[in-house]
Amino acid sequence: MQQLQLLKRLYWLKTFGYDYFDEPKSIETVDNLQNIKLPDTLLELKKYTFSCHLCSLSKTRKNVVFGEGDQNAQIMFVGEGPGEMEDNTGRPFVGRAGQLLTKIIENVLEIKRQSVYIANIVKCRPPSNRVPTEEEANLCKPYLLKQIEIINPSIIVSLGSTSYRYLTGDRNGAISRVRGEVFDFGNAKLIPTYHPSYLLRNPSAKKDLYLDMLKVKAML
Ligand code: URA
Repeated sequence: MQQLQLLKRLYWLKTFGYDYFDEPKSIETVDNLQNIKLPDTLLELKKYTFSCHLCSLSKTRKNVVFGEGDQNAQIMFVGEGPGEMEDNTGRPFVGRAGQLLTKIIENVLEIKRQSVYIANIVKCRPPSNRVPTEEEANLCKPYLLKQIEIINPSIIVSLGSTSYRYLTGDRNGAISRVRGEVFDFGNAKLIPTYHPSYLLRNPSAKKDLYLDMLKVKAML
């Protein structure tokens, strides 16, 4: 009975020109991305992330650090999360660790930084550069997986244990044990290696990273 009255009222409103439309789901109104269809282009996806407030990192960020590089890249590097310089500029790996990463790409792989794609597990800076929580990483992961789907790289290099753990779900994987191994990751091969920040603190690990990069180079 109530429904009938409601229907009558709707027809009545229609005579005045009212129209019914389904409220579009906006990123502002969802609490996770599991059932949301994300855009199929990097440009649209990037715009989407700019209005993301799914976790508390959005409250303290200056910029969303979406990722950058060649959208047809064969190699994708995945770090942990933006640091201060990255937060200030909106670009991934532009601080000291980033400069080292650029050197590794250009001097060891002998390709231009612009020819790879660089992203992070989370797109907003964790305060004081702390490790992103599991919740933050999981809320942000659909964006990264969509980036991987669009770019479709043949090699993904995960930088450091946080990147390796959150990408693969292997919670206990110690980077010193898994580095240099080759794992299947969808259409790509995933190779974990040390994070450049770790190399800045432990220069003796550089030779291991060098060996991992030679492996990557041989797979190109
Ligand atoms: N460290 C990361 O993991 N990502 C960046 O973008 C910069 C530093």
